[in-house]
Amino acid sequence: MRQNQRASITGIGSYLPNKVLTNYDLEKMVDTSNDWIIQRTGIKERRIVENGVTTSDLATQASLRAMEDAGVSPKDLDMIITSTITPDHIFPSTSCYIQQKIGATRACAFDILAACAGFIYAMSIGQSFINSGAMKTILVVGAECLSKITDYTDRATCVLFGDGAGAVVIQRDPIKHEILSSHLAADGSEADVLIMPGGGARNPASLESVQQRLHYIQFKGKEVFKLAINNITNLILETTRENGLTLNDIDLIIPHQSNLRIIEATMEKLGLPMEKAFVNIDKYGNTSSASVPIAIDEARKEGRLRKGNIVMLVAFGGGLTWGSSVIRW
Ligand code: ACO
Repeated sequence: MRQNQRASITGIGSYLPNKVLTNYDLEKMVDTSNDWIIQRTGIKERRIVENGVTTSDLATQASLRAMEDAGVSPKDLDMIITSTITPDHIFPSTSCYIQQKIGATRACAFDILAACAGFIYAMSIGQSFINSGAMKTILVVGAECLSKITDYTDRATCVLFGDGAGAVVIQRDPIKHEILSSHLAADGSEADVLIMPGGGARNPASLESVQQRLHYIQFKGKEVFKLAINNITNLILETTRENGLTLNDIDLIIPHQSNLRIIEATMEKLGLPMEKAFVNIDKYGNTSSASVPIAIDEARKEGRLRKGNIVMLVAFGGGLTWGSSVIRW
């Protein structure tokens, strides 16, 4: 029997807040309609945190589920890496709050920022530490409270986003889901097409920055739309080739859930049927860093991941950043 030599996903967990924000709720807040949102995005509803709930709260629940699934205790963790664009604070890191909340006292902890591609960036970092032998057990988290940076007076952006968290444990394991390779890319020349302009060193928080609504997500929708499809399509082709595979070898693509039309156009360009893409955007909208690990967890629960399957994770987001991982399930 073939035995894994490299990092594997040994546990998966996700957590969604209970509160549902439907398209009909949004109809009451901005000039939009359920039909428009479904036709242009595929989203029917999204989850939103209650006041006072933070990204580390969602992340902690997802992490506990992933650790239970892996059969590891908090003290087993060597490292916690969290991808988020909605940290509890700019500093200290959300990973440090997670470390404290789950009691992972041995683990070092830090966040990374690669927006919607961030979970794949984070998992790739963890994979490298495992493959090098430097660490044995790493928790990788993607968690967001995007409702905190969504402008609910702007119909062009507010219909897209939701809150949630997902996590995986990675270890070297002879039989579990081996990460065959990860591929990362970035293009800073397009940084302004998807941005939250306020709150950093360029536009520190001020009365003006709040009045100008700079502390919310802004994007040039059509440009992001086209860049996402082209870059994801090329990356899937490159990743497939570099692994010595063909598109037919891929059993399931788990894409970042940004817009159903982006996923459909990508699959069409690749000549692959939609049945080979996992989609849950209708229920959760775009949860940025959280979308891929939530989707992995749901795909598994729905029986879409079978032993030996070749699974491609792929994501694209602000930065611009994009990335993919190939996993032998
Ligand atoms: N309800 C009703 N009408 C709307 C809404 C709304 N919520 N939002 C925009 N419109 C109107 C526009 O004003 C425009 O009206 P006009 O023709 O009179 O000018 C019309 O609908 C069409 O608007 P478009 O922006 O052309 O619509 P499009 O088909 O491009 O869809 C969308 C917009 C959904 C934002 C799409 O471009 C998109 O998903 N882009 C990517 C967004 C993004 O950056 N996501 C986050 C990053 S992660 C990632 O995407 C990979």
